[in-house]
Amino acid sequence: MSGPEFAPAPPLTFVIFGATGDLTRRLLIPTLINMTRAGMVGDDLQILGVGIEAGGVDMLLGRLDSFLDTLPEMKEPDRLEAWQRLRSRISYLQGDFTQNAVYEQIAQSLKHAPSANAAFYFAVPPQFFGDIAEKLSENGLTDETVGVFRRIAIEKPFGHDLASARALNARLLNQVNENQIYRIDHFLGKETVQNIMTTRFANMMIEAVWNNNYIDHVQITAAELVDVGTRGKFYDTTGALRDMVPNHLFQLLAMVAMEPPNSFDAEAIRNEKGKLLKALRLYSREDAEKNGVRGAYTAGQLNGKDLPGFTQTNDVRPDSNTETFVALKLFVDTWRWAGVPFYLRTGKAMKARDTEIVINFRQVPFAQFPRAPSRPQLPPNRLIIQVQPDEGLDMQISIKQPGLGMNTVPIALDFRYADHFDIGKLTGYESLFYELFVGDQTLFQRADGIEAGWAAVQPFLDLWAEGGKPDPYAPGSMGPACADDLIGRDGRAWHQPEDHPAAKKA
Ligand code: BG6
Repeated sequence: MSGPEFAPAPPLTFVIFGATGDLTRRLLIPTLINMTRAGMVGDDLQILGVGIEAGGVDMLLGRLDSFLDTLPEMKEPDRLEAWQRLRSRISYLQGDFTQNAVYEQIAQSLKHAPSANAAFYFAVPPQFFGDIAEKLSENGLTDETVGVFRRIAIEKPFGHDLASARALNARLLNQVNENQIYRIDHFLGKETVQNIMTTRFANMMIEAVWNNNYIDHVQITAAELVDVGTRGKFYDTTGALRDMVPNHLFQLLAMVAMEPPNSFDAEAIRNEKGKLLKALRLYSREDAEKNGVRGAYTAGQLNGKDLPGFTQTNDVRPDSNTETFVALKLFVDTWRWAGVPFYLRTGKAMKARDTEIVINFRQVPFAQFPRAPSRPQLPPNRLIIQVQPDEGLDMQISIKQPGLGMNTVPIALDFRYADHFDIGKLTGYESLFYELFVGDQTLFQRADGIEAGWAAVQPFLDLWAEGGKPDPYAPGSMGPACADDLIGRDGRAWHQPEDHPAAKKA
């Protein structure tokens, strides 16, 4: 992100419901500071915080100041200066967002704002999404006129299963048009995720082999080192599958597997992503049983500290059968991907923080090279898209080992962002908010894509709702043994960072 490439976003009021909450200070304000600093927004951005807590703007600013004081990056003079500029344009409205009064006051405030444009961000629990959208609409706040936009931005979860996702979409679409709804999946704010399209469509040598003639299988891993911690209440009713798969992992899958769009218009891209997600095979109960496994971490050591097991975590039911790890084998039923399995896994309290997509190519059809007993087969080529941390791309190929004979050795052609670019300390929301403000929906999810994602995971939700328990795994491991079996019975193995010494820096 750098200033000169961007025309600043048009003037608008950014209305935050839930302004005194954690999300606002931790994420939204630091993002707006970064955007101010980079010139992505101008001094005509107004921020109107709405919250239930008593007090005026000084209360809100005081809280924001105290939080920002704790951030090391806020010692940088240009960030401080950006905050001072932004700070003077924040106002606060105390009120209950289930009541009409607050919406009347918002309307007044927008009337007196320099511009009538507004984006409403719902930093509130998901059960209020529908209510707020309805109240905004009833009070005329979502009405657009020529040259004036009104948009709403919401974060996952969009429902907790297929039926509730459909119901939420229907409720929202009853009040506002699809082109006014910005459904945020924060994975799409990551540079490495946005770069998937460039990797594929700006490079002939990559896209040319991007199909089932050359690709054996794809692995998508989002391993997290963090445990459930203080999020027991949320997590126990959510679980790893709902929390990560139909949203974040499916966004990665869609970027990797979609067909090339005709243009980079938001709708062209969202059409392709939607088509891809709709092509995910919908499993029967028996198929779901064969193709999905779940785990929950036990008590143990994580990062040198004692960790209680998931079921001993605060606010988690001791007899909970919620999973903290999930692994799935999925198929995309299209011409391009016929027969290519997509293995997905994600979990908490694992060995490392590692989000990666590994494209595993087929074996060469005929290998004339002598085979070492330790390496009876030539290792297949792999392209590893390292989403985070240590963001980069590496391509694993075989070369001749220097010296006599024709011995092959695998090496990695390795690209790391940090070696080439200084992307500074960003929240990952800067590009998402910029696009929200300029009205580009490319990085946001459309209703059909969300519903297609839920449809593909619904058989697993149904199966696991019948009972049974997740398999145990030790904290600091890569998940339960059943996940290794899921891929192992196909004669394949999960990619391990240490598989390839040159592939990752420690
Ligand atoms: C969130 C999940 O959506 O994504 C969290 O609710 C998870 O449980 C987080 O930790 C992962 O995001 P990131 O950007 O840290 O990989």
